[in-house]
Amino acid sequence: MKVLIVGSGGREHVIAWKVSKSKLVDEIYCAPGNAGIAEFAKCIPIKTSDFDGLADFAEKEKIDLTIIGMDEPLVNGIVDVFEARGLAVFGPRKEAAILEGSKAFSKDLMKKYNIPSAEYDTFTDADEAMAYINKCKFPIVLKADGLCLGKGVLICETKEEALDGIKSIMLDKQFGSAGDTLVIEEFLVGKEVSVLAFCDGKTVKAMTSAQDHKRIYDNDEGLNTGGMGTFSPSPYYTKEVDEFCHKYIYQATVDAMKMEGREFVGILFFGLMLTSDGPKVLEYNVRFGDPEAQVVLPRMKNDIIEVIKACVEGKLSDIQLEFEDNAAVCVILASEGYPLKYDTGYKITGLDKFKGKEESFVFHAGTKDQGGDIVTNGGRVLGVTALGKDLADARDKAYKATELIDFQGKYMRTDIGKDLG
Ligand code: AMP
Ligand code: GLY
Repeated sequence: MKVLIVGSGGREHVIAWKVSKSKLVDEIYCAPGNAGIAEFAKCIPIKTSDFDGLADFAEKEKIDLTIIGMDEPLVNGIVDVFEARGLAVFGPRKEAAILEGSKAFSKDLMKKYNIPSAEYDTFTDADEAMAYINKCKFPIVLKADGLCLGKGVLICETKEEALDGIKSIMLDKQFGSAGDTLVIEEFLVGKEVSVLAFCDGKTVKAMTSAQDHKRIYDNDEGLNTGGMGTFSPSPYYTKEVDEFCHKYIYQATVDAMKMEGREFVGILFFGLMLTSDGPKVLEYNVRFGDPEAQVVLPRMKNDIIEVIKACVEGKLSDIQLEFEDNAAVCVILASEGYPLKYDTGYKITGLDKFKGKEESFVFHAGTKDQGGDIVTNGGRVLGVTALGKDLADARDKAYKATELIDFQGKYMRTDIGKDLG
């Protein structure tokens, strides 16, 4: 088979690595890819927003399956374009990707189908949102409705912060039209867990759990980022929690989407809060998490292409997902200054020390090849993942592996996976 992967981050790197292990695959392409992905795939310089260009390429190269890694093309309907041209593609159609594309849609869906989530109200008028704030308990959570590169959620401790937040989202349009509608949500307390699941429109199969560290500094301080590290499994995600979530959240969501005539095929990412009242949904994403995929996929025993084919063909119920009885930790190496201003173009050393290693991996996020040197090219530069017999072992190995790599301004958190339950 010939497989095309659409995207260019650490998530697409681990997808390409996992696809390279499939016995069904002969050739891998990635658009646009990055310097690390180039080891497994031919990188093609087509933009992820150029749906026709990507479909032309898939048609011309006789690609058997295209896997969409990123949220934005999914939300904007890339799957519909491929399907209209008879091309096999893995990901939700636009009408289903709305689960990530509109927080107001997903909140309304959860309410309609009794899927546990935080209490909320939706506003399209800033004055009404501000008036509502006067009768709220704090903290309170503001969410811009649309896609905001993971930055559209503000947790406000005080009334003043909330009023400022409403102004910047709805009036100053900090996130553009993504802030035309605002969700104001109850603040939930608990342990956060990410669960990624394969879906074929009717069946849903959850993968092993993971936990993300979103803040830039140790002890979850500082600004939110795309994710500074992950570990898998989460010690808080017990068998009982899984059984509850399967019935009342995962299957309930897939059934709800089917009832709405928006069958969900692809990866559904459940951002969960394990509250004293039981698990509740914080958010849905419609693709693998980044950097959750970097700890979940290295633990998966299945051939990923067999599972994806089963999803596309509506036969997921035939598949038994299996994961190693081990643990994984991923530490992100970022450019100093991220998530605000940072410099790029610094030479990265030590990457060759990971070649042929079975228990530690380096996944590229923001890198590029500059005349044979790999240099930094983004805020999140690399993800170093290590496998271990348990979380403490994986954590030790991951941090040891981070020492092999160097570049000017290398920054990482030192407490990824430290809170082990
Ligand atoms: P999201 O982009 O929806 O994942 O939100 C980003 C982060 O904000 C989440 O990972 C949580 O840490 C936090 N968050 C979102 N919604 C809530 C909520 N209702 N209560 C508490 N924290 C939340
Ligand atoms: N790590 C969170 C996300 O992929 O959205």
